[in-house]
Amino acid sequence: MSMEDMIVIKGLVKRFGDKTAVNGLDLVIHRGELFGFLGPNGAGKTTTLRCVSTLTGFDEGTITVNGHDITKEPEAAKGSMGVIQQQVSLDKDLTIRENMISHAMYHNMGKKERNERISELSDFFGLGEYLDKPVDSLSGGWKKRAAIVCAMLHRPQVLFLDEPTSGLDINARRLLWDVIKSLHRDGTTIILTTHYIEEAESLCDRVGIIDKGRIIALDIPKNLCEKVGSIAVETIENGKTTYKYFKSRDEASAFAASLKGNVTIRDTNLEDVFVELTGKSVGAQT
Ligand SMILES: Nc1ncnc2c1ncn2[C@@H]1O[C@H](COP(=O)(O)OP(=O)(O)O)[C@@H](O)[C@H]1O
Ligand SMILES: [Mg+2]
Repeated sequence: MSMEDMIVIKGLVKRFGDKTAVNGLDLVIHRGELFGFLGPNGAGKTTTLRCVSTLTGFDEGTITVNGHDITKEPEAAKGSMGVIQQQVSLDKDLTIRENMISHAMYHNMGKKERNERISELSDFFGLGEYLDKPVDSLSGGWKKRAAIVCAMLHRPQVLFLDEPTSGLDINARRLLWDVIKSLHRDGTTIILTTHYIEEAESLCDRVGIIDKGRIIALDIPKNLCEKVGSIAVETIENGKTTYKYFKSRDEASAFAASLKGNVTIRDTNLEDVFVELTGKSVGAQT
């Protein structure tokens, strides 16, 4: 293992009864990288993150975080990580501030640092006026922001964000993108899952496409698109859309000239890559 590697996953298998949710997954995430897991519902994204962040056990394989084998040294590994789950996991009986304090205590933060950090992050997320309200009185979007602040409070070296922006309105989503970018600039290693193509494309250094519990492609977004063909020709004929991909605009134009129907020539995006590789759309159920 190199010092460059923040997370090393080898042969990860996780089963639920007869169902294999993660099926021999290998992945190395570099220190300081912003990595995106892109995949349809049920592909195994959440389960993988839950295994790596020690929220659940696994059946086969090894996982190392920041040099610590998470099975042998779970406490040391946990100290490096902050987790935001797909289903927000705040204590409903507490206020937002009390939740933050309990997270800070779990990570042994001093009171002064904790209070400074709570006010700094709450200001950033516009959470100030909600801090002393019970969790249950807030809408989903506000709960999500509060959960994100909790996970970031102790300045973890690795941050897991499981669909951080799903269910957020566009303003909150942009705000969160800014936070993620600034954490990335500061050197935090970030792994996020998303089914928003533009989120993966605009934020992530590398993207892993996951399907049926395995990584089926992994690269920087541009290279993934080039593999399929950088230029897409989209044709709508009799209400049916078909796609074909080309290396150059010239080749695409030559092909398009021979077509009837409504033809669009555009850059290939990650959604195209995804559909080509899996035969499914990102929003589809497996
Ligand atoms: N607690 C569980 N019990 C049984 N099956 C589960 C459980 N969690 C996930 N699964 C199954 O494992 C597969 C992967 O799920 P998940 O990791 O949540 O996918 P994703 O996050 O990519 O949508 C799915 O088929 C899902 O139904
Ligand atoms: Mg999920």
